Amino acid sequence: MRRDLEVLMDSFVIEGGRDLHGTITISGSKNASLPLMAGALLTDGEIALSDVPNLRDIRNMIGLLEELGCAVSHDIESPARQMKICVQSTKPSHARYEIVRTMRASICALGPMLARRGYARISMPGGCAIGDRPIDLHLRGLRELGADIHLDAGDIVATAKRLAGATIFLGGPFGSTVLGTANVMSAATLAHGVTVIECAACEPEIVELANLLNAMGANIRGAGTPRVTIEGVKELGGAEHRVMPDRIEAGTYLIAGAMTHSDLTIGNCPIDCLLSLEDRLKGCGVGVHCENGTRTTERATVEVKGADVRALRPVQVTTQPYPGFPTDLQAQLMSMLCLADGISVVTEKIYPERFLHVAELSRMGARLYRQGPTVVVHGVKQLIGAPVMASDLRASACLVLAGLAAEGTTNVNRVYHLDRGYENMEEKLNAVGAKIRRVDEGEVS
Ligand code: EPZ
Repeated sequence: MRRDLEVLMDSFVIEGGRDLHGTITISGSKNASLPLMAGALLTDGEIALSDVPNLRDIRNMIGLLEELGCAVSHDIESPARQMKICVQSTKPSHARYEIVRTMRASICALGPMLARRGYARISMPGGCAIGDRPIDLHLRGLRELGADIHLDAGDIVATAKRLAGATIFLGGPFGSTVLGTANVMSAATLAHGVTVIECAACEPEIVELANLLNAMGANIRGAGTPRVTIEGVKELGGAEHRVMPDRIEAGTYLIAGAMTHSDLTIGNCPIDCLLSLEDRLKGCGVGVHCENGTRTTERATVEVKGADVRALRPVQVTTQPYPGFPTDLQAQLMSMLCLADGISVVTEKIYPERFLHVAELSRMGARLYRQGPTVVVHGVKQLIGAPVMASDLRASACLVLAGLAAEGTTNVNRVYHLDRGYENMEEKLNAVGAKIRRVDEGEVS
């Protein structure tokens, strides 16, 4: 396995215009794993996770937890994908800038560390390619639980003897916050008394976290709904948990099948968490079929039926908090709508600036007109292969999909963004008929 530093200048060379056929199996969820791993900071017991994806963000979180006094053993490079986390020392409680700047999700260590140790020092996350990402709601929620929080040399310093339960409205200008809910919910498990979080995030990743915390001995009700109630307990123990499949990875490959007019099967697919995407695909004339009786299971076998679709119909889509259409699939769906027969409208309500992929798609012949948080997509018959630049995780996936559907060769540069959130993307796609080579950028420029 090549070290993270070595892949920094990698590019994908994609031969487009090929049908995909066969099965892609979905890995464990990145966005579920990160708060689950941080949850280990709440206990002295051992947390055993399975189906943890082998991703750069996961390896960064391992590095962070080790810096915060944890022993982490894992075999995420083997099919079992198992990980064991156990706090050895509660002394080192500083999440340094060098780690936090590689991964904003480091912030989800704040609540668990503060609740268990009464002290936490975490570098304040900086700017992000997808837009403004403040953490004011995280801090507001923890302050309402009684924490004293101040900024010192770019670090958030939080202290509290013992947190106290409170009723907290956690909604912001763009609605609920996922990691903010994870932080406050985790902290409230060890607070004295009852906490009610109103306008909590309803994402499946929050339900996953609540399931682990309850298995550790917490008392959480209502996870997955806008009102979560947590009755604080004195201490939490160890537990085991199998990570849910990655709904954003699954959604990405469902769109890949649709826009390459392929009949593609997605295994271990959390389709029940993707009904908003299924609705948009249906709107475009693309059917999604679940193998008998697997629809409501967390791990369905799903076939996207793209082969018979002569022309994709245009649709409107607006991103929203779950169960609305996920912002993390906006770019990928836009690349598909570039090929629809007519005018689509894409509105980004979570990160209004999340459009760095627009200019790159335009280099491939897409006709896109942006007005603030909305992009009007005039469908074209064909995208044309070109050298393009990846800017963030989901924009990179969007460009790979565009390259799969395009005529000719597409070079996607800086695919290290992809390695943060997609496990073995080129192997998975090549196994179903794509033609992608990972090369050093020097070879294509
Ligand atoms: C999570 O980020 C995901 N990351 C993101 O996925 C995802 O885009 C996002 O949720 C929204 O679905 C992980 O789970 C690791 P938020 P998070 O707090 O929790 C505003 C990917 O591609 N806000 O729900 O950081 C914020 O600016 C990543 O895998 C405040 O105003 O997102 C945004 O507009 C990218 N104040 C909105 O709320 C706050 O304190 C939603 O953000 C917090 C957030």
